[in-house]
Amino acid sequence: MTATTAASAAYIVAALLFILSLAGLSKHETAKAGNAYGMAGMAIALAATIGLATRSASGVGIGLLVVAMVIGAAIGLWRAARVEMTGMPELIAILHSFVGLAAVLVGWNGYLSVEADVEEQTEVAPNLLGIHSAEVVIGVFIGAVTFTGSIVAFLKLSGRIKSNPLMLPAHNALNLGALVAFAVLTVVFVVEPNLLVLSAVTLVALALGWHLVASIGGGDMPVVVSMLNSYSGWAAAASGFLLGNDLLIVTGALVGSSGAYLSYIMCKAMNRSFLSVIAGGFGNEGSVSADDRDYGEHTEITAEDTADLLREASSVIITPGYGMAVAQAQGAVAELTRKLRAKDIDVRFGIHPVAGRLPGHMNVLLAEAKVPYDVVLEMDEINDDFAATDVVLVIGANDTVNPAATDDPGSPIAGMPVLTVWEAKNVVVFKRSMSTGYAGVQNPLFFRENSRMLFGDARERVEDILKAL
Ligand code: TAP
Repeated sequence: MTATTAASAAYIVAALLFILSLAGLSKHETAKAGNAYGMAGMAIALAATIGLATRSASGVGIGLLVVAMVIGAAIGLWRAARVEMTGMPELIAILHSFVGLAAVLVGWNGYLSVEADVEEQTEVAPNLLGIHSAEVVIGVFIGAVTFTGSIVAFLKLSGRIKSNPLMLPAHNALNLGALVAFAVLTVVFVVEPNLLVLSAVTLVALALGWHLVASIGGGDMPVVVSMLNSYSGWAAAASGFLLGNDLLIVTGALVGSSGAYLSYIMCKAMNRSFLSVIAGGFGNEGSVSADDRDYGEHTEITAEDTADLLREASSVIITPGYGMAVAQAQGAVAELTRKLRAKDIDVRFGIHPVAGRLPGHMNVLLAEAKVPYDVVLEMDEINDDFAATDVVLVIGANDTVNPAATDDPGSPIAGMPVLTVWEAKNVVVFKRSMSTGYAGVQNPLFFRENSRMLFGDARERVEDILKAL
């Protein structure tokens, strides 16, 4: 068997492992196996790629490849070991930006190596030059949009810049203008490849990526993260075409299409138009997010009084949010669930599709704390039951339980389906202050007559309730 055939066989095995990985990651029971398949696939892919490279590259080339791999792996291991669960979204965003940057560099290299080879024409056959140029310009465009878009997503998700949407005048026209400019420049580049046009495409795409994500409000960021995941897949696929690497094309297409499907599911869950989000908040004419309305007074409650409320309840629903992840309260919450169920109180969880900062964030935490899967319900499964519930514990959730989404058409989160917790007899909100959630929107729930605020770190307050019970 030649090295090329062996590498092709290894690529097929790796591609199958990536498909099994995606299938595994779609359910939390099989997610660990999914990760293992992905790691095995990547190890095989790396070994095959290096094996192939040893045939053509010089000793120095192979040495550089190995050094790059060791440095990359060391940084990856270091970051993965240190990252907190709550820091995962921004880590993913920055990793997407690397894929985008790599695609830009591969594209530029594709152009420069052909330019350097005009005399001998061994890089690309003259009749395929047009296709090659199209691959270059498309790869650079997708890569550059992914690069700056992911950097803005990283800055927003890590709180380094505000999550409010940037609303430049005529922002839709700007986006459309950038797409038209890209189309025109692509034609010019395919007809006559040149440095100036490629630089212009790169600049237009960098600006477009930045503007698309900057224009999207905090509440819609989950869709942006999955959309950038999809873009990074297409960027990788474009690099695969340029490098003539089949596995990169297949893997890029898998990531691209699964990310696009995830974005579609997220949009449906949040009642947002897919096109409007990928077009950078198209149709959103800048709703107000600074809200200085007077909602009245809020009422506080102590952990002891919450324990009394729970003791008298026969049904309890817990709706966790990002604050539960920050406080790492899932263990205490699981213990509270066991204690209440032992007292014959019906305890269930209501999970909003975008609670936390990652798809399935709350499910992962609750599974880790060994909360039984059958009491963890999706928003659609539980929303009709709040009216017949004695106590709802809102643990570190804010935007996902905000009645403004249904009651206030001017709110930046208007139209987003939320957990209708306020329909219950009593609502206890666990948070540290009266500050807003991720979308930066005030929450009228806190001022309702049946709502009580239990201030402090969610984990400490749940532990106080456990003691009082
Ligand atoms: P958020 O609206 O982000 O609110 C979380 C609340 O937790 C905050 O109001 C905060 O209030 C409280 N909190 C923080 N640390 C706490 C602690 N140690 N103890 C107690 N409370 C604490 O949460 P959510 O309801 O889960 O909504 C998620 C938001 O993130 C949505 O807007 C969603 O669109 C967005 N988002 C989601 C994703 C995905 S994929 N899930 C990705 C990106 C963005 P205090 O500061 O007063 O304590």
